[in-house]
Amino acid sequence: METRDYLKQIVEELHTSVMATVDAEGHPVTCAIDIMDWDETGLYFLTAKGKSLYDRLTADGHLAITLMKGSDTMNTLAVSLKGCARELGPDRLPDLFRKNPYMNEIYPTEESRQALTVFQIYEGTGEWFNMGGGNIEHHEFSLGGAELSVEGYYITTECTKCGTCIESCPRSAILLSEDEPVAVIDQAHCIKCGNCFSTCPFRAIVKS
Ligand SMILES: Cc1cc2nc3c(=O)[nH]c(=O)nc-3n(C[C@H](O)[C@H](O)[C@H](O)COP(=O)(O)O)c2cc1C
Repeated sequence: METRDYLKQIVEELHTSVMATVDAEGHPVTCAIDIMDWDETGLYFLTAKGKSLYDRLTADGHLAITLMKGSDTMNTLAVSLKGCARELGPDRLPDLFRKNPYMNEIYPTEESRQALTVFQIYEGTGEWFNMGGGNIEHHEFSLGGAELSVEGYYITTECTKCGTCIESCPRSAILLSEDEPVAVIDQAHCIKCGNCFSTCPFRAIVKS
């Protein structure tokens, strides 16, 4: 999947996010916010200028969102994105209302929409994490040129292919191949528990 596919899925399948921002004391605050539209340059949501959320966003545009869909933990998809948002103003409001007609029930008249304003999440990095009925898989993506720093465990040339890490991996995410000089972690299936790191007798595994 490419970034555009993740953005599309956020809007069309997941839609309601838990959005984290920081208040004036530097404390985290979360609230439910619908992610109503996307394009190649970002994600769009709206809020009212009277809300505390608006104050937090305009004081500091950093935010994080998580969206989840699923019947239970082992059948849940979650997408998390951390990055920056900027206020665009009301120009995009008619478009958001057209694409999200339920908004007409909340703000039925033009007059009632006076306080609304649109924000764009224009930069950030995200993680797509699917429990997949037990076939756990995750991928990272970047929006707006944000640098993707993929945290995880990597096996260095100190590896002797002894196999200790393979025994300790709960997800069978470490592979030994004759084509590779060292064991290799399948990053999409690694759940970053750190067992391999702590059990490797040769200290051949690093965390980045
Ligand atoms: C499912 C759901 C979706 C929501 N979507 C939005 C939204 O898109 N924009 C918005 O301003 N408020 C939305 N709200 C309401 C906010 O979560 C609520 O106003 C919250 O209190 C705002 O945070 P604040 O009180 O810190 O300003 C939604 C609430 C729910 C339950």
